[in-house]
Amino acid sequence: MIFPMKHPICLPDDVTERVGALAGPLLDWFARDARDLPWRHDRTPYRVWVAEVMLQQTQVDTVIPYYARFLDRFPSVEALASAPLHDVLKVWEGLGYYARARNLHAAASQVLTEHAGHLPASYADLLNLPGLGPYAAGAVASIAFGLPVVALDGNARRVLARLCAIEGDPRRSATQRALQALAEALLPPDAPGRFNEALIELGATVCLPRAPRCERCPWSAACRAHRLGQEEAFPQSSPRRAVPHYDVTAAVTCDDAGRILIAQRAYDDFLGGMWEFPGGKKEDGETLEDGLAREMKEELDIDVEVGALLTAVKHAYTHFRITLYAFRCRQVGGTLRCIECADARWVWPHELGEYPMSVANQKIVQVLQAGGQAGTL
Ligand code: ADE
Repeated sequence: MIFPMKHPICLPDDVTERVGALAGPLLDWFARDARDLPWRHDRTPYRVWVAEVMLQQTQVDTVIPYYARFLDRFPSVEALASAPLHDVLKVWEGLGYYARARNLHAAASQVLTEHAGHLPASYADLLNLPGLGPYAAGAVASIAFGLPVVALDGNARRVLARLCAIEGDPRRSATQRALQALAEALLPPDAPGRFNEALIELGATVCLPRAPRCERCPWSAACRAHRLGQEEAFPQSSPRRAVPHYDVTAAVTCDDAGRILIAQRAYDDFLGGMWEFPGGKKEDGETLEDGLAREMKEELDIDVEVGALLTAVKHAYTHFRITLYAFRCRQVGGTLRCIECADARWVWPHELGEYPMSVANQKIVQVLQAGGQAGTL
């Protein structure tokens, strides 16, 4: 049986002939071997949505405890929409990609106002919600509502690229179209959600990037890459660009009473809405200390005296790495005002934990707490 394709491509003949026979073994395997994961119970659209947003960019094991805490704190669309963004970011703290939390929060309000509090059972309407791209909208549409839409994450793409030995880097749109067309051809209309999830599961547990466990794969007999003995050659990837590294400074500024200055990043910025010890990227030709004093003036309009180095923290983001140098500082001039940030506050050391901070800034908090009160220069 050949399914109509939205994006016609030439499937290899052997796959075209078997297209209708491939979903069955995959679904049987999934029924037998699927992991027991929290979002696979009590599949309300809200629970599926939260899970799929968290699972974008993040490993299952990392997501599990966050998922439980998030649902505990925000058990419904209404609870999420009515919570302050600050609380949502605090629960998300450490999970990274904080735009996901901001979008989830904004989307919850949109679901309340535009869909009477119910996630829409339509791919196009889901795609209209903040933070739902083709993958997450497809996952929610198919898993929560049984709509016949594909949902390809990196795991699923790897499985399909190997199944048909599809050439080209999956980051390129031509390759994506080929993978999409293949998935659409394979998708069983009566079990689209289980099929999508099974494909993702197969990629995550069997069709691994390195040393795939082909002996456990329900598709090994059909898999072209396996027959060629070239599983690891697919998906093909173009050489990656070197990841840049930046030296970044942060000021742990204390006032005479022992309070510490923290600032909130602008909402539309990277890590938007998160709190931090203010500072910024060192520029070429300046020292770390001079760069920090410059940033404090530019961002907060205050003059600081930069003292001892408190700690240096290394952190890797997706497209760059940083070393974050935290210096003890003291304000010696200027009047605090937010120029490039959303807010700034003097807080007591024991209050720092109430503010959502990125992992790198949390490490500075830990050093401060291990060394007692941040104090004199
Ligand atoms: N990754 C993305 N969606 C997933 C799901 N539903 N189950 C397991 N891993 C996933």
